[in-house]
Amino acid sequence: MKIKTASFVISEPNWKDCPKPIIPEYAFIGRSNVGKSSLINMLCNNKGLAKTSSTPGKTQLINHFLINEKWYLCDLPGYGYAKVSKKSRAIWQKMIRGYLINRENLMNTFVLIDVRIKPQTIDIEFMQFLGENDVPFSIVFTKSDKIKQKEVAANVKAYQNELYRYWEELPPFLVSSSEKALGKREILTYIEEINPLFKKPL
Ligand code: GTP
Ligand code: MG
Repeated sequence: MKIKTASFVISEPNWKDCPKPIIPEYAFIGRSNVGKSSLINMLCNNKGLAKTSSTPGKTQLINHFLINEKWYLCDLPGYGYAKVSKKSRAIWQKMIRGYLINRENLMNTFVLIDVRIKPQTIDIEFMQFLGENDVPFSIVFTKSDKIKQKEVAANVKAYQNELYRYWEELPPFLVSSSEKALGKREILTYIEEINPLFKKPL
């Protein structure tokens, strides 16, 4: 699949204000600075579409982008940003968890993991939350341009082994680099395969 059109629709703090759930939707989530907004821009061939920054905590709201006039990509604020107050963290949890649990047209959530970093409790707990609430997800290992291919393979394998400690079955996983446009075809093909499964709400 090729992305022909990608446009910003709305930013909102509450899932209740999201666009009508009448077309399929895919969300990007993960720790602050892991590369969610950059990945969306890479997939859409538009570096200015989602706002990115080298400082964590750039994306603060739920952001919707309409793709090919047929489905939504959703950029979410990251978690695990150390400098955030307890109060902001609680607001984040309410906003994101509310969105993930209630968004009827959410077909898949891409959980982004920096391929260079060892498995972190915060990510594993987040995935457990998704599993417990039947939110479908897959894992995208980001920033693969930053280390050698061999290391990427070894780190992915080690991550899978860690997840096998908790789960019998693992979610699908993909590898990406927004810098080198790696993983684009795989992610878009994955979305293309899931899109026809969408059922319009009555
Ligand atoms: P928040 O919105 O703050 O949660 O962050 P985010 O997950 O949206 O990250 P963002 O896309 O803003 O990227 C964070 C930083 O990582 C930026 O400086 C990007 O240029 C860089 N970055 C993102 N993806 C890649 C990648 O694949 N390779 C490299 N080398 N750098 C990347
Ligand atoms: Mg962002």
